[in-house]
Amino acid sequence: MSEQDHGTTEGNANPVGMAIAVFVGAIALVIGIMLLAQFAIGTRPLGAGLDKAAAEAAIKERISPDVIIATSSTPQAAPAPAAPVAVVKVAASGDSVYKTACSACHTAGVAGAPKTGDKAGWAPRVAQGKDTLYKHAIGGFQGKMGVMPAKGGNTSLSDADVKAAVDYMLAALK
Ligand code: HEC
Repeated sequence: MSEQDHGTTEGNANPVGMAIAVFVGAIALVIGIMLLAQFAIGTRPLGAGLDKAAAEAAIKERISPDVIIATSSTPQAAPAPAAPVAVVKVAASGDSVYKTACSACHTAGVAGAPKTGDKAGWAPRVAQGKDTLYKHAIGGFQGKMGVMPAKGGNTSLSDADVKAAVDYMLAALK
């Protein structure tokens, strides 16, 4: 079977097909020679498509972090500055400073803090004099009951803000 096939194929060499093959081959050869000639006279510089520097630049552009940043994070706005500080600075009345920086401890009497409005609790403190109270509120103070942090822990407050808050607390005793 297979021997018969072999014989048939070899015997059937088609002269027309051969001629076409030779013709196509000749055309390919001519085109090849023309291209070579073009390279030789410089109309098509060798390696035009493989320019190393250009290729590297293109790759860099594609993998550049700039491109990633441009698509992912550029539209995001800069983070807003810490808002609570600004609020305290603008509204520096004793009332608002107290609410922002002091009420956490002094309204409920947390951690040994004397409750605002508690006359008995404040009487010995008031007896020290206002200046001592200012000093303890601004600079911080360790007493028998606990720790009063400097400026209630809010160091962005001005001394005047803290004094206003102390005045507010003393006014609540009347
Ligand atoms: C973290 C809790 C806390 C915060 C916040 C806080 N205090 Fe106090 N404060 C205390 C404690 C505790 C004491 C009592 C300490 C003691 O006598 O042992 C105290 C005591 C005081 C006294 C009495 C000082 C004295 O000499 O007896 C004043 C005045 C005072 N605080 C003002 C303020 C003001 C004004 C603010 C806000 C700016 C503030 N505190 C915020 C905990 C706090």
